[in-house]
Order: sequence, then C-alpha cells, then structure tokens
Amino acid sequence: MKQIRLSIIGFGVVGQGLAELLALKQTQLRHEFGIEVVLVSVASARYGFIYRSEGLDIPLLLELSAARLPLTNHSGVQHWTNALQGLQATDADMLAEATGTNLQDAEPGISHIRTALTKGMHVITANKGPAALAAAELFALAEKHHVQLRLEATVMAGTPVISTIREGMVGSSITAMRGILNGTTNYILSAMATGRDYAEVLAEAQQQGYAEADPTADVEGYDAVAKTLILAALVFGQTLRPEQVIRQGISTISRQQMQNAISQQKRIKLIASLRFLPAEKSVEARVEPTELPLNDPLARVDGVMNALTIQSDTLPEVTIIGPGAGRQATGQGLLADLIAIAKSL
Ligand SMILES: NC(=O)c1ccc[n+]([C@@H]2O[C@H](COP(=O)([O-])OP(=O)(O)OC[C@H]3O[C@@H](n4cnc5c(N)ncnc54)[C@H](OP(=O)(O)O)[C@@H]3O)[C@@H](O)[C@H]2O)c1
Repeated sequence: MKQIRLSIIGFGVVGQGLAELLALKQTQLRHEFGIEVVLVSVASARYGFIYRSEGLDIPLLLELSAARLPLTNHSGVQHWTNALQGLQATDADMLAEATGTNLQDAEPGISHIRTALTKGMHVITANKGPAALAAAELFALAEKHHVQLRLEATVMAGTPVISTIREGMVGSSITAMRGILNGTTNYILSAMATGRDYAEVLAEAQQQGYAEADPTADVEGYDAVAKTLILAALVFGQTLRPEQVIRQGISTISRQQMQNAISQQKRIKLIASLRFLPAEKSVEARVEPTELPLNDPLARVDGVMNALTIQSDTLPEVTIIGPGAGRQATGQGLLADLIAIAKSL
C-alpha cells in the first residue's frame, strides 16, 4: 500500500470537494490503486492551518465547515494562524493548493506552491493564478526538487483536457486549440440566444450563483485569458503575459447582434484560441466573441458547459466537452492528478 500524506490549503468549494471525494472513494483508492491517502493538514484563511500527524477526520472537517465552525474544533491538532508557516513547519508528501485565483501576483497560492515544491512535496492545484503567471518557473522548481506538479483542475475543472493532451495525445504535434473555457459567459450567451438581454441574463446568473457579484473576471474574458495562458505554457511551452492575449469580453454584445447571428445559422460564443505560428516559433492567443456556424462542435455547447477542440498533425480535430466548474467536478481534477502522481511513485 502506498501511503500519501496530503495537505489541503484552501478549504472552500474545491478543497472540500476533494476531501469529500477522498472520503467517498477511500475503498476504491485502496483496492484499485493500492493508495492510502492520509489527510494530515488543512488550511483556510479564517481558521489557519491545522496539522495532525496521524491524520485528520475528513467527515468531521466537512461537518465543521458546513456549520461554519472553526477547523480547530478538531481534537488533537497543532495550529498555525498562517498557512505558509504551518506548511513550512510540518511534513507531507503532497500539497493540494486550492486558494482563490489572483491574476495580479498569484498570491497566496504561489508561495504555498513554491514552499511545498522546495520542501520536496508533489503539488496538485486548481488555482489558476500560479499556473497562468508562473508555470515555467514552477515546473523548473518541481524538476529541481524531483517532484511533480500537476494542473488538471485549472482548465475545465475535472474534464480531462490537460491529461488528454499531454498523455492521451502524446507524440502528436498540436497545431491549434479553440475552446469555450468559461461557464459563466457561456451560460449568458446561451440564454441570450433564446432572445433575452445581456443585463437580464447576467442578473439571473448572479442569482443562481453562476456569476460573481463582480462579474468582471468572467464577462470581460480575464478568466478565459488565465486558462489560455495555462494551455500556452503546458501545450506549447510558451510563457505569455496576460497582455499578450488579445482579449474582448461579452458585455457589449447586444440582443440584436445575437439575433443577426442566429438568422445566419450561427451562434456567438466566447472563444479562447491558441495557434502555433511555425515561422515565428510562437503562439497567437486570443479570447473574443466569435460567430460559429452550427456545424462547429463548439456552437452547440450550451449553458455552463465548457469545451475544447484540439487540432494536431495526427488527429485533425478532437473535441472534449464537459463541466468547467463545480465542487465535485473540480475535486475530480485534483483526485485524478493525485492518483497519477501516486501511481508513478
Ligand atoms: N469553484 C470551482 O468550480 C473552480 C473550478 C476550477 C478552478 N477553481 C479554482 O480553485 C480555487 C479554489 O476555488 P474555490 O471555488 O474553492 O474558492 P473558495 O470557495 O473561495 O475557497 C478558497 C479557500 O481558500 C482559502 N484561503 C484564502 N486565502 C488563504 C490563505 N492565505 N491561506 C489559507 N487559505 C486561504 C479560503 O479561506 P476562507 O474559507 O477562510 O475564506 C477558502 O477556504 C480557485 O483558485 C479557483 O479559481 C475553482
């Protein structure tokens, strides 16, 4: 039995989603993969970092979180108010980093990830900030310390796009990718395609929890830009800055524009695209509303669903459609990375 001592930093929707799956799939992990995961530490901003060498009680942590009670109510734990200090002072084999995405400087996630890699811990993360702004640096750090860094959950949650490209399509040379990488904007555009106004649909999306109170990151395309940067780094080995992605959001799309597209048998989608330019040995990256004919596989991806179409020299077009967010869907992305690392040890 391979034992993985795991630390989860960021115990919100995604951190709890992973913990829930670990409890749910404990028997499967043991029998199918010979893996025993011992959750030794958990951290949130409010309650700090708790550690118990013999392992924490996951159902109890989930109950405490659901009741909005401090994680320190768990008995027999050591406690640090600051997650970074707790991480530095304790030991584990792997970090699951699930604090909020910050596209300015990637903190606090990037410090957690740097510290864990430097300590010789493997890292799995759903946090888009470090992956979008510093993938090359972090992969180099992982290599230096002979550990792995995996990022499946950062793009399309648990829908396996990164592993499909890097493992399933290994040996194929990717030439271009186009995708719907943001569920909120796709929900809004899909509803607008039924004849409704942007403002009305945005308000509804906010009510239903699909859009944030401040929707800027989604509707102006910044979230899709972050995912585009991650794919540029992982698939094309290109480090791009956010300003290098040509970006346009969906907030100016009118009902009339949408109706015009529909009358021409088209749909408007917020498309993130990457195209390898062989002459320049660089990639062109864009996030922008795009009119798609109905026979394009992305045209009929509606609601909060995400999708990515990949073109390569040996596989002309592969399209993956699936959820791009959610507690269990994102937890699955982290779980898949955890298992992949554990199997390789
Ligand atoms: N939700 C999704 O469907 C989804 C999908 C793909 C990727 N992601 C990414 O996954 C990450 C987590 O998302 P989420 O939805 O779980 O967010 P969330 O519910 O807001 O959870 C974030 C967690 O991070 C904690 N945190 C913040 N700063 C911290 C610090 N300095 N030290 C320790 N903990 C800290 C927060 O603590 P408090 O609870 O005390 O505030 C909270 O527990 C984000 O980067 C997000 O972009 C999310």
